[in-house]
Amino acid sequence: MQKTKQQDAIALLTTDHKEVKQLFKEFEKLCQQEDVDEEKSDLVEQICSELTIHAQIEEEVFYPAARDAIDEHDIMDEAEVEHASAKELIAQLGSMEPGDDLYDAKVMVLGEYVNHHVQEEEGEMFPKVKKSKLDLGALGDMLSERKQELREDMGMDMQDEDMPAAKPGRSEKSSSTRGKSNKSNKSMSH
Ligand SMILES: [Fe+2]
Repeated sequence: MQKTKQQDAIALLTTDHKEVKQLFKEFEKLCQQEDVDEEKSDLVEQICSELTIHAQIEEEVFYPAARDAIDEHDIMDEAEVEHASAKELIAQLGSMEPGDDLYDAKVMVLGEYVNHHVQEEEGEMFPKVKKSKLDLGALGDMLSERKQELREDMGMDMQDEDMPAAKPGRSEKSSSTRGKSNKSNKSMSH
């Protein structure tokens, strides 16, 4: 159950990057299909939640530690500015629906921001952090704990964990389909 705890900070963030890039690939595939608005909307909701959490744990936990450990303020400053642009798009997508003007384009551009973010971090920032004296194991634990808290706050399923699927999750979004209706339908049918 505590699988993610054993990841050091860089491994944890790199895994996040891979997972979210995969989600963008799925979105691209959906864009080639018809009548998939609901899938798109669910996927984009997931992308935005994952990215929001990723950005937040980086800003709260990783960046301050990295900033102290490496003497490269430019890299850190750029990363923070890029987060701000991504958050702006995430906020816009939060009030949009598939089919709206520029919806797909905004998701694709968000994906491009993420690719760039990943390149900068994995290509520049992480190698420098690795060479520093930062305790990446301890930092990984802190990231993992904070990530878990945020996921719980957002009512997200705990992926990669052996949790029973009992948590009320994001399914309550469509209030028209409550579990109750099943039963009443049945009793009406005779
Ligand atoms: Fe990142």
